[in-house]
Amino acid sequence: MVTAGIILAAGKGTRMRSSLPKPLHKVAGVALVGHAVRIMRAAGVDNINVVVSSELADSDELRETLLPRVRVSVQQEQLGTADALAAARSAVEDADTIVVAPADMILVTDRIVREMIKVHTESQSLATVLGAMVDDASGLGRIELNSSGRPSAIFEEHEASTELLNSKLINTAWYCFDNRWVWSALSSVQPADTGEVYLPRIIAIAATVDSAQLIISDDNETHLGVNDRVQLARVEAVVRQRTNEAHMRNGVTIHDPAVTYIDIDVEIGADTTIGQSTHIGTRSVIGSNVVIGPNTQIFSSRIGDRAIIDGARVIDSVVGAGVSVGTNSLIRDGSELMQGSRIGNLAEIKNSVIGSGSRVSHFSYVGDATLGRNVNIGAGTITCNYDGVDKHPTIIEDDALIGSSTMLIAPVTIGKAARTGAGSVVRTDVAAGDTVAGVPAKSIKSK
Ligand code: UD1
Ligand code: CA
Repeated sequence: MVTAGIILAAGKGTRMRSSLPKPLHKVAGVALVGHAVRIMRAAGVDNINVVVSSELADSDELRETLLPRVRVSVQQEQLGTADALAAARSAVEDADTIVVAPADMILVTDRIVREMIKVHTESQSLATVLGAMVDDASGLGRIELNSSGRPSAIFEEHEASTELLNSKLINTAWYCFDNRWVWSALSSVQPADTGEVYLPRIIAIAATVDSAQLIISDDNETHLGVNDRVQLARVEAVVRQRTNEAHMRNGVTIHDPAVTYIDIDVEIGADTTIGQSTHIGTRSVIGSNVVIGPNTQIFSSRIGDRAIIDGARVIDSVVGAGVSVGTNSLIRDGSELMQGSRIGNLAEIKNSVIGSGSRVSHFSYVGDATLGRNVNIGAGTITCNYDGVDKHPTIIEDDALIGSSTMLIAPVTIGKAARTGAGSVVRTDVAAGDTVAGVPAKSIKSK
């Protein structure tokens, strides 16, 4: 039994009032269309095709968003969901069953999608729809049932009878179809008054041969879609809550989940604690027994076991085991803080390696630098790495002691166990073991 997935993501998304196509709007760090792909994958569907507009097909953002092995089909003109599905026909020729989803219903769980596929294949139906019972059905298509409780048709709100409008059973727009049947059925779907061809109308065609099935989601958030930015925020809140709860169940302490933002695809080890107003961005990996926050942001970074990140920002960097990073510090652009190093308050570390046991304790800028082991950087020290045209490296070898407010004019090397006096402006390399001071700094060792 071969199953293929098709995600419809070519709609205009007019209600978002955005120049960014709706499928690329992010929820918890991942674009909507990426969420739909993930749900399908998690439900066991590997061959996935996304139908996009020609504008979206050409965008770099789409390529960045999609996981590998996702194929793209183009719907030339936005003529409705049935027309969008038709655009993917040639991409799924080998499949027996196709699973179809919109890009904007991302609270559907992989568990219920798996269940839908099972119900569909076991009942050998031509079409199966995932429905949900909701308190507020406004804006959604309503599923009409026949006397045996199976779907006979789906009507959009603007075309539904008053009786059906009172029904709380809505169409999530996730479906399974028999791949040998669906394409000819699609071609007989008649356009609505709006001129669009509606995919839900295919249910009535399957029902004429008594082969439409229904599965109802048991999750009361399934029906929340993203059509405007109010709904975007609502859906994001649910995703965050689910993510936080999953981490807490895995042994992570989150002091105040309501103000803790952990994106999709973040790994966190057991016994790590997270303080309030903290954001951990997608693809970050946090070790165990780490203390993070309050007021901390970590994006695309790895944090080792037992590290402490207290009110700092860490972006595209690696923080080793047992490292501490203090308040208002910024670690960025491929920096690596080796095991047991310490960054204090108000320090900025950019594209630099801070060796094991080294300390940058107070308001310093360290950019394009490589520090050895047990280096101490005094308060207010700056690597002057930019000459107005190019960036230059600074190398500080093991056990060096840099006096407060030293200006290191790169490119420059400070040798092993060398020292600089407070307020030195170092323009030339300092030999191992030497001590320099002054402006420009000169050796004072022999005096
Ligand atoms: C659709 C369903 C509705 C269901 C609801 C659930 C139709 C006609 N109605 O309504 O029964 O309750 O979803 O969320 O299908 N798309 C294209 N090409 C198009 C038009 C849309 O690819 O020409 C894509 C959109 O990008 C979107 C999906 O299809 O991902 C659904 O379109 P949307 O306009 O959001 O449909 P709804 O009005 O929400
Ligand atoms: Ca929608």
